[in-house]
Amino acid sequence: MAIAATVLGSATEPMVPALLKPLLDRGFKTDGNLDIWLVPFFLMLLFGARGLTAFVAQFGLARVTNLGLQKLRAAMFDKLLSAKLALFTDQSSSAIANTVVYEVQNGSHLLVNAVMRLARDVLSVLALVAYLLYLNWKLTLVVGLMFPAVIVVVRVLSKRLYRLTKESQRATDELAYVVEENVLAHRDVRLHGAQTVQAGRFHLLSVSLRNLSMKSTVTHAGMSALTQLMAAAALSAVISIALIQSAQGATTVGSFVAFITAMLLLIAPIKSLSDAATPITRGLAALERGVHLLDLIEDESSGSFKLARASGDIRFEGVSLRYKDDAAAALQDISLRVQPGETVAIVGTSGSGKSSLVNLLPRFRDPNAGQILLDGVPLQDWNLGALRSQIAFVSQHVVMLNDSIASNVALGQQLDRQKVITCLQAANLEKFIAELPQGIDTLLGHNAMQLSGGQRQRLAIARALYKDAPILILDEATSALDTESEQAVQQAIERLTLSRTSLIIAHRLSTIQHADRILMLDGGRLIESGTHAQLLAQGGAYSHLYKLGFSNDDAKSQSNTMS
Ligand SMILES: Nc1ncnc2c1ncn2[C@@H]1O[C@H](COP(=O)(O)OP(=O)(O)O)[C@@H](O)[C@H]1O
Ligand SMILES: [Mg+2]
Repeated sequence: MAIAATVLGSATEPMVPALLKPLLDRGFKTDGNLDIWLVPFFLMLLFGARGLTAFVAQFGLARVTNLGLQKLRAAMFDKLLSAKLALFTDQSSSAIANTVVYEVQNGSHLLVNAVMRLARDVLSVLALVAYLLYLNWKLTLVVGLMFPAVIVVVRVLSKRLYRLTKESQRATDELAYVVEENVLAHRDVRLHGAQTVQAGRFHLLSVSLRNLSMKSTVTHAGMSALTQLMAAAALSAVISIALIQSAQGATTVGSFVAFITAMLLLIAPIKSLSDAATPITRGLAALERGVHLLDLIEDESSGSFKLARASGDIRFEGVSLRYKDDAAAALQDISLRVQPGETVAIVGTSGSGKSSLVNLLPRFRDPNAGQILLDGVPLQDWNLGALRSQIAFVSQHVVMLNDSIASNVALGQQLDRQKVITCLQAANLEKFIAELPQGIDTLLGHNAMQLSGGQRQRLAIARALYKDAPILILDEATSALDTESEQAVQQAIERLTLSRTSLIIAHRLSTIQHADRILMLDGGRLIESGTHAQLLAQGGAYSHLYKLGFSNDDAKSQSNTMS
């Protein structure tokens, strides 16, 4: 509809000068036999038709654009939910948000409007040129000689514009990233007096963004100025030639005015054609990022094996992991077996690969070598959703969504208020919740910033309790708790580990001593494995770590009570 309306609208373009010709040649002469009402009537008809086609074109266009944008956004967000996790380490969250929310919107509006305008302009130009040729082909050819020059100028400058646009986008992302970082790290920045450095960083980026923006404006403005100058040159040539022709009696006033009017009408679409490059290149560059997100980012791969509830038999066979090709291995040749229901503690100095090891189970990453089996089935063959439903994971970095406490605890599951309350009680949060005016319906706000670290961890433990999965992974899940709350949560954890296969990364002895087995990692290798007593008797790395008192004094006090 929009295309048809545009074609019709453009076809009416030469009709304005065409109406002037009879008006001037016959209307203002006493011997002219022109009906008085003819020209005004056609003028009204003409602009009525133009208004209608313009309206229909805009309406159709807006409908297509907005529908497309909505679908594109939905597809991008779906991608965000299913993309390989590498996406989130490769791109900052502000860049991703920027692409999904702003870039594609600006891009699609710019692009679609520009393309439609381009079509309208090209058609108008064609119609007007045809009319000009019909009126006076010699004159038209003289004007036509100017054309290639315009094209060359537009070509060269729009390439430059495209490059500048790309650079501005990258600079905008970096700027947004600096803001994001400083919002997140606002305390650290203040505490360490890093404001000057951060302000410098921001300043540098904003200056480069300003320069890029100026360059792009200069290019753009220069392009307009040059094309207008060329149009003026063409106009001057026409006037001169027409005057000569008129002196020879070869042209009438009506034809001359019609010709000039048609030419003047040409300037607007030609000028807009030279401008069309800007929104089109900007729009393309913006949409390209959206399409990149959709097309180039791979989805997580998933197998088809499903099981309602796994028994929790985990096997690692010669597993190695390398985050980047040139980086040192984070895990090297790990082989181990965890029996259903077993509680295994993983210890090791920081950076020894503990988190990397447990992150392999829900396939947040895939190992570079070796394989991992759950219930005898390789992880790649498991349906990803089914695999992840077997695992409750309390990570080092607890993230809460901006939703109610209840929805956060029941994340992704059917909400059962009574069960939520039971889990919160087990996670030792009932006193805290009781003090909230809205109880479990209290909204947590942006990443639950108003909660203390310990409260967030306990909320995450409640979430794990709620999920009630056969495999439990705790990655320093109690690191933010004080000794007292940890002891309270400890019972919840013990209850959690009771009927489940559990992998627990902890730096406190209180958690470790309940484990059936302890795995000691060092530099990505599994160096010791056994019970607390066995490893102590071995007198190896674990007993050394133990003597150092783990990471806290409470290990010493614990060891006193133990001994
Ligand atoms: N996302 C990542 N990208 C690159 N390297 C990483 C990433 N996560 C961890 N590493 C590296 O892998 C090694 C093991 O890290 P990690 O498993 O987090 O240790 P731990 O949990 O025992 O402290 C470290 O050298 C760390 O720098
Ligand atoms: Mg870790």
